[in-house]
This record gives sequence, C-alpha cells and structure tokens, in this order.
Amino acid sequence: MQTIKFFKQSPVPVEFHKPVMVQALQLPPVEKRLEAILAAGCNTFLLNTSEIFLDMLTDSGTNAMSNQQFSAMMLADEAYAGSQSFVRLLASVREFFGKEHFLPVHQGRAAEHILAEAFVKKGDVVPMNFHFTTTRAHIERMDATVRELIVDEVFKTDSDEPFKGNMDIAKLEATIKEVGTEKIPFIRMEVTTNLTGGQPVSLANLRAVRKVADKHGLLLVIDACLIAENAWFIKQREPEFALFSLAEIIHEMAKLADIVYFSARKLGAARGGGIVTNDEKLVAKMKDLIPLFEGFFTYGGMSTREIEALAVGLKEFTDELVISHMPQSIAHVVNTLKASGVPVVTPAGALGVHLDAKKFLPQVKSNQYPAGALAVAIFITAGVRGMERGTISNDRDPVTHQEILADMELVRMALPRRLFSLSHLQFLIDRLQWLFANRELIGGLKFIEEPSVLRFFDGKLAPIGDWPNKLQAKFKKDFGESL
Ligand code: F0G
Repeated sequence: MQTIKFFKQSPVPVEFHKPVMVQALQLPPVEKRLEAILAAGCNTFLLNTSEIFLDMLTDSGTNAMSNQQFSAMMLADEAYAGSQSFVRLLASVREFFGKEHFLPVHQGRAAEHILAEAFVKKGDVVPMNFHFTTTRAHIERMDATVRELIVDEVFKTDSDEPFKGNMDIAKLEATIKEVGTEKIPFIRMEVTTNLTGGQPVSLANLRAVRKVADKHGLLLVIDACLIAENAWFIKQREPEFALFSLAEIIHEMAKLADIVYFSARKLGAARGGGIVTNDEKLVAKMKDLIPLFEGFFTYGGMSTREIEALAVGLKEFTDELVISHMPQSIAHVVNTLKASGVPVVTPAGALGVHLDAKKFLPQVKSNQYPAGALAVAIFITAGVRGMERGTISNDRDPVTHQEILADMELVRMALPRRLFSLSHLQFLIDRLQWLFANRELIGGLKFIEEPSVLRFFDGKLAPIGDWPNKLQAKFKKDFGESL
C-alpha cells in the first residue's frame, strides 16, 4: 500500500483517482428532508434520489466506475450465445479466483437462489459466520434454517479485535455434532460480514473452517461480495500475509472453498454476479438452473456491457490503490467520530461507517427500532441516506410471528468505492457530531405497513410522538438557516 505522509496536516486518506465525469448533487432544505422521510414511511429505501444529498444507502451497484470500464463497455459483443464479451469475462474470473468453472447470474441473491435450490432441502441447517438478509431468505424459503456461529467478540461494538468476522470453531464442531452432517448442505463463510459492520475473516480462521469441513466431508461456500477488501484487511492485520499481493491473498482464500459466489454490484464495481468452482460434479448440480432462472450460460441475466465492465473491474479489484480507498475512508470517519465520543463499530471495517444505535439512543427500546429511528434522524439532519441494519432488517419468526430482536442495532452509511470526496466525509462527520449532541430529542418508530418477507425493503413506519419536528426545529435554531 502507498501511504502518503503529511508535513503539518493531520493525515487523511488521499484519493488515487480523479472524477473525469461528474453528476450534480443538491441538498434540499431541512423542511423538505423532513417531509420526504415522513412520506417515505420513515424507510430510507423509499426515498427518491432527488430528495437526497449523499446517498450512502449501499455500495451495491453504486460504485464509481473507471474510464477503463466505460471504454470496455463499448466493445460489448451482443450475442445470445458465445459472446466474445463472455470469453473475456471468463478469463478475468479464472484469473481473479483461480477457479475453472463459472456460472453467471444476474446478481448476488440469484447465486443464493441457485445454491439453495441445488443443495438445501427441508429441515437442513446451514452453519455460517453470519447471515445476510437475502441469504437467510433463500435458505428459509427451502424450509431450512441458518445457524450463526460468529465469534462473540463481534457483539462488542467498541473493540480492537482485528477479525470480528471469524467463525467460532468450537461452535461449528458443536453444531455438526448436534445436527449431523447429513443435514448440513454446506458451511457458508461471508467475507467480510456485512450485517455486523463489514468485519473481516482471517485466513487462519478460513483454514480452520476448511479443516473442520474436511474432517466431516462437508462443502465450504464463500460469499465473496467483499473478498477484495477482506484480502486487504488480511494484508494489513495478519502478519503472515504482509508481503503478499491482494491477488495472491484472494487465491489463498478461494482455494479453501468448494464454491465461491459473488454479487458484481459490489465485487468488480459493475452489475451481475456469479458462482465459481473447480468441481465438475458441483457444476452439474447447479448448471441446469442457470438457463431456467437466469439466462443462457454466456450471459446469465447480465447485459454484455455489464459483462465487459466486470471483466475489467475484477482486474482493478486486485489493485491496492483501488481497494484501499474505501476502508481508509471508513477508518477516517470512524476514528474521528470515536475520538469525539460518537458510538461507532470498531475496528473500522469495510462497506461503510456503522453507528451503534443502541448506545447512540439508549432511550429507544429495541421494539421501537433504534437503528431505524437513527437513520431517519440522520436523513433529517444531513440529507444523507443510510440504512437500518437492526431489528427492522430481521423479518418476524416465520412460525411464531414474534419479533426477532437483532443482537446489534446498527445504522450503516455505505461508502461506495471511489465515490465520495473528503469534503463529503467531513460534512458527514460534522452532522453526526451535531446529532449526537442532540440525541435526546430522538424517539422511536412503529410499523404502519409490514410485509412478511424482507420487510425492511418496503415496509412503512411512523414516528412515535412528534420527535422529527422537534429535531427539525432544533436544527434550524442551531444552524440559523435550513441547509
Ligand atoms: N451477500 C452479501 C454479503 C451481500 O452484501 C449482498 C448484497 C448479497 C449477498 C446479495 O447481492 O444485492 O447483488 O443480490 N448486499 C447489498 C447491501 C444489497 O446493501 O449490502 P445482490
């Protein structure tokens, strides 16, 4: 990694890219922000980008693309079958993962759908370090369950443990003993773990999981959405790999898995996704599902332009100057906020800045959705769209319909790759510091329209009491104007 040293200024992350094409932004006044979030049912997914200043909802499909990717898109070879664009992508995928077979899909959850259909049956249990929303939904759709076996340290949001995405090997052994290998279709490792704050997995831990899988004859599947950033953390934090290139670390990780799948909305800064493996028998189990659900084997639901962009994007994702920008930007915001007492998830991970809403809003009970309420308050304060990653993101228990209270109530402000400038980060820090100073004004939320599956996407909520108005009034008083 190239780190720039500073003479008199405190060090900040320096961008190794420049915007060669720009999109104008606007910051609507606070009255409009309040109006917009209430009309959106206090759900940031239901806002329009015309109402938003900085869109930190997700890094999925929102990364800035390079001029190299755009130029490759012009070479797209439009064909239903046998497109040369796919030939180029296949070569790039093989080089990136070091695996031979590639089944293209239209996005990450489509890969999860194929894996669930091919391997998971009723009554099965899928051990994993941590679930992702779409992963769990696809496994539960098969009447199977997810078992989360992440290290306990992860629930301590204020920590300096370097690999809080690790699986607890003793818990894995105990689960296998309890459930029996015939009920375990595969073990799933998510690198990094999205819902716990983009926390990385160490190579030592992946090796240990592989050893257990071998001992019991189980498959190991890696969700590789953020494998490049995870590799960067391994290089930074696991001394054995300090001198390895990102490409080498990614190969080491992929080598340990029987199957690797990914969303190209994240990995490769494009769209689409895929499933890769070296095992022809595993390919045979999944292959027929590709033309059925996704499209022909040489596009899998992706447009040829996306395929070209991904072929180039994967090459760029082994470049440390490209990959380090996101985690370094996150670390800048996290460390600055932490120093001023704002409760953030540490150590800084990948994907975004994660606020600990339980600590930020101790007055809001879990069943009044502290993370959802904090996301609403951030939008009113800053016009920044974050995402609730707490109890609202858990659907109710499918059998008892009881609320499943999340272990952690996080608000994520995603920092898509190469997108935001340092001034955007400084603005975010400033507004979050103001909000923290005024946190006692914030109250809870209640559902007014609640879908039964993936309710966080389009469920509608309302504030309990008129706290959003009070927050707006305080904002105007302190800033003297409405921006
Ligand atoms: N797995 C992980 C770890 C993810 O983070 C995502 C998506 C998926 C699978 C599904 O991929 O969206 O292409 O279907 N995460 C996005 C997010 C939605 O906002 O974190 P997809």
